[in-house]
Amino acid sequence: MTGNQNNRDADEADDSALVDITDLSIRFRTKRGMANALESVSLAVPRKASMGLVGESGCGKSTLMKAVIGVLSENAEVTSGSVMYNGTDLMRADAEALRSIRWSEISMITQSALNSLNPVMTVGDQIIEAIQAHRHMSKADLNNLVVKMLTLVGVDPRRMHDYPHQFSGGMRQRAIIAMSLVLNPELVLADEPTTSLDMIVQDQIFRSIRDLQVQLGFSMLLVTHDLAVVIENCSRIAVMYAGQIVEEGSVASVVGAPFHPYTLGLKNSLPSIERMHEPIAIPGAPPDPIAMPPGCRFAPRCPFAIPRCREQRPNLEQMGDGHASACHRNADMPGLRMEAAEFSTWARASETNHASQESIS
Ligand SMILES: Nc1ncnc2c1ncn2[C@@H]1O[C@H](COP(=O)(O)OP(=O)(O)OP(=O)(O)O)[C@@H](O)[C@H]1O
Ligand code: SF4
Ligand SMILES: [Mg+2]
Repeated sequence: MTGNQNNRDADEADDSALVDITDLSIRFRTKRGMANALESVSLAVPRKASMGLVGESGCGKSTLMKAVIGVLSENAEVTSGSVMYNGTDLMRADAEALRSIRWSEISMITQSALNSLNPVMTVGDQIIEAIQAHRHMSKADLNNLVVKMLTLVGVDPRRMHDYPHQFSGGMRQRAIIAMSLVLNPELVLADEPTTSLDMIVQDQIFRSIRDLQVQLGFSMLLVTHDLAVVIENCSRIAVMYAGQIVEEGSVASVVGAPFHPYTLGLKNSLPSIERMHEPIAIPGAPPDPIAMPPGCRFAPRCPFAIPRCREQRPNLEQMGDGHASACHRNADMPGLRMEAAEFSTWARASETNHASQESIS
C-alpha cells in the first residue's frame, strides 16, 4: 500500500457525503430533438477524498460537473433531481447563491483551461483578480497569498510577474490549479485537467494535487479517460455509460473485481492497465442520446445480454462494501470475468448484436 493510499484512507474516515446528487436527469434541446445527457444519476461525492469519473466520450461526465457548479448551457433542462451541498440544493439555488459558492467553495479545472488565461495580464494579476471577485484584502495580503499559492503548486513565485506565454504548458496548468485553490474550496471539479500535457508533466501535476489535498483537505471529482490515473489518485470511482452511472464503489473493488460488463470492457480497452495481451476495444458505439434504447443501454454492445436486458432497465444494486452495479446479471459476473477478458467474447458479441439489430430493422 502506498503512502498516498494511507493518506486517502485516513482522510476517508468522515464518510458523510460532501455533495449528494440524487436522481439527476438533464437533457439538451437540439435541432434534432431532446438529447438525454443524464438520466437518474445518483452519486455521493466523498468528503476530503477523490472520486474518479470515467466513461466514453459523450456519456455525460462534463454535464454532471457543469450541473454541480451551475454553468449548464442555456439549452439544458433539468427534468428531475437534486444536488445537495451543505444543506443547499444547487439545482434550485438562485444565481446569487450559486455565484457565492462557485470558486470559493466549489471550483473547476477544465480541459480547455490552458487556453483560458488572459494573454495580456500577468499570471500573478490573474490570481489576484480571482481572489478579489470574492474577498476584500489589502494589497500586501493579496501579494502574500499569490506567493503562497504559486509556491504550493510548485511555481517559483518570482514568476508571478510573467505573462502566460512565458510559462510552459505544465506551469500554466499549475497556475490554473493555484487559481482554482486560492479561495480554499471544499470541492475541486477536475475535467481532464492534464489531457494536453505529456505523461511526465501529468504525473508531476497529479503528485502536486495529491500533496495539496493532504495540506488543504479538499475533495476532488476527477474526470479522466485513463483508469491508471484513477487508480493512482482516487479512492472511489463512478463508471458512466450513456448518461447513467452503471457502477460505483471503491477503486480497489470496482477496478479489482468489476460486476458491470461495461466496466469489464473498459478495463480491457485501456492501455494503461497491466495485462498479458493487447488492449481490446469495446466494439460498437454508445447509443444516440436522442433515441436511447429501451432496457439496458449497453445491451446493443454487451456480450452477456439476455432477452430481459433489452426490455427492462437495470437499477443500481448494492453488491456489498459500498460497491453498486446496474446489471441484470450481477450475480453471474464473478463467473464471467475471465470470459470478459477474452478478445473472442467481444468479437462474438459484436457479430451477434449486429445480426439482431439487422433482424429488428
Ligand atoms: N450544450 C449542449 N447542447 C446539446 N447537447 C449537448 C450539449 N452539451 C452536451 N451535450 C450532449 O450531451 C451528452 C453528454 O455530453 P458531455 O459533454 O457531458 O459528455 P462527456 O462525457 O463529457 O464527453 P467527453 O468525454 O467527450 O468530454 C452528449 O450526447 C452531448 O452531445
Ligand atoms: S443488464 Fe444485460 S445488457 Fe446490460 S450490462 Fe448487464 S448483462 Fe449486459
Ligand atoms: Mg467532457
